[in-house]
Amino acid sequence: MTGASVTRRETLAGLSALSLSACAGGAGPAVGASPSGAADGLHQIAQRKGLRFGSAIAYGAEGSDSGSIGNPAYRKVVERECGLIVPENEMKWQATRPGPDQYNFAAFDAIVRYAKSKGLDIRGHTLLWHRPKWMPAWVNNYDYGARPATEAARLVTSHIETVTRRYSGVIHSYDVVNELFDDQSGAFVDTSISTAMGSPEAVVDLAFHTARAELPDAELVYNDYMSWEPGMGNHRAAVLRLLEGFRKRGTPCDALGVQSHIEMRTIDRATGIGTHDLKEWRDFCDQVTGMGYRLLLTELDVKDNGLPADYAARDAGVAKYLTAYMEVMLSYPQLRDILAWGMVDKYSWLQGFAPRADGLPQRCCPYGDDFKPHPMRAALAELLASAPARA
Ligand code: XIL
Repeated sequence: MTGASVTRRETLAGLSALSLSACAGGAGPAVGASPSGAADGLHQIAQRKGLRFGSAIAYGAEGSDSGSIGNPAYRKVVERECGLIVPENEMKWQATRPGPDQYNFAAFDAIVRYAKSKGLDIRGHTLLWHRPKWMPAWVNNYDYGARPATEAARLVTSHIETVTRRYSGVIHSYDVVNELFDDQSGAFVDTSISTAMGSPEAVVDLAFHTARAELPDAELVYNDYMSWEPGMGNHRAAVLRLLEGFRKRGTPCDALGVQSHIEMRTIDRATGIGTHDLKEWRDFCDQVTGMGYRLLLTELDVKDNGLPADYAARDAGVAKYLTAYMEVMLSYPQLRDILAWGMVDKYSWLQGFAPRADGLPQRCCPYGDDFKPHPMRAALAELLASAPARA
């Protein structure tokens, strides 16, 4: 389907080939469950509490050394620990939309086939990443013609309809819109699409309404990285304003995706973990859930920049910080899905995006480069096992 519009026939053919079993959240195959549950995978532990655990995974050709479906060692970790997966990049416009009327689903389809073969559920990420940096170049340079708002709307609706129809019955939860704000000022970041349509709100509302029209029963999520670290107040306030606006305008958004790229920049002497605005964060989550939104942790990882070089000390610090964060998040019954943004350190995006000052690798994922679990994995198991059960 590379370089060609997707016809209805192709869409239907894609569907029957890709259709997953109706059982959402199929149990990720487990390794030898013991009576105590000690050897269970994270998803199995989660399931007992009405939760699900999953991870991002990329596309890679068989044998590739990456956090992908092509790496047998990575697959083994994912199949042991996860009940659902999310494509790291393969559903984004940069991957699927090489031109205004062209689609390419080859890489993402391979991930969906993999999920199907393993009984893994799959989340959609993302129908619209509203950042010029993450748009294909053609979008940033697009000539919207004489009726820019109409043409911009066409680009958005055609994209969302094409993707959601193709994976109808397969994907039940989508990050419809991702990252609308400048994290310092809390102001909207424009794209050529929002400029053409007149406002970011117009784009976002259109995206959610289009997704809802296609998927009456799916979970529609606004996803962003506002978090509990100091300095994120404006970002949190902006997201709250957005979610309030959705409710006032009747924008069909069901849940907030809390990306959860949590970070230890400085260590708080009193608690011994990364500084964080606990009260402000609880207030934020209370207000979000108070408006009736569900919560998902969509991209969990831990930046360890503030911790010492020593691996054992770092791993312990990461596990402790993660525990403090997860205890807060798991206290919200509205939270059901927890997805790591990758399972193995060396394949994490953070190695490139958030390098440590000392040049050492981040120890940011549940598993180390030797494919052995970090203390973070044990902390997750413990947290999930002791989480309050969901109805
Ligand atoms: C990241 C991927 O992990 C990278 O491989 C890619 O180069 C950039 O995007 N927030 C998101 C994710 O919503 O899509 C991002 O994923 C990480 C931050």
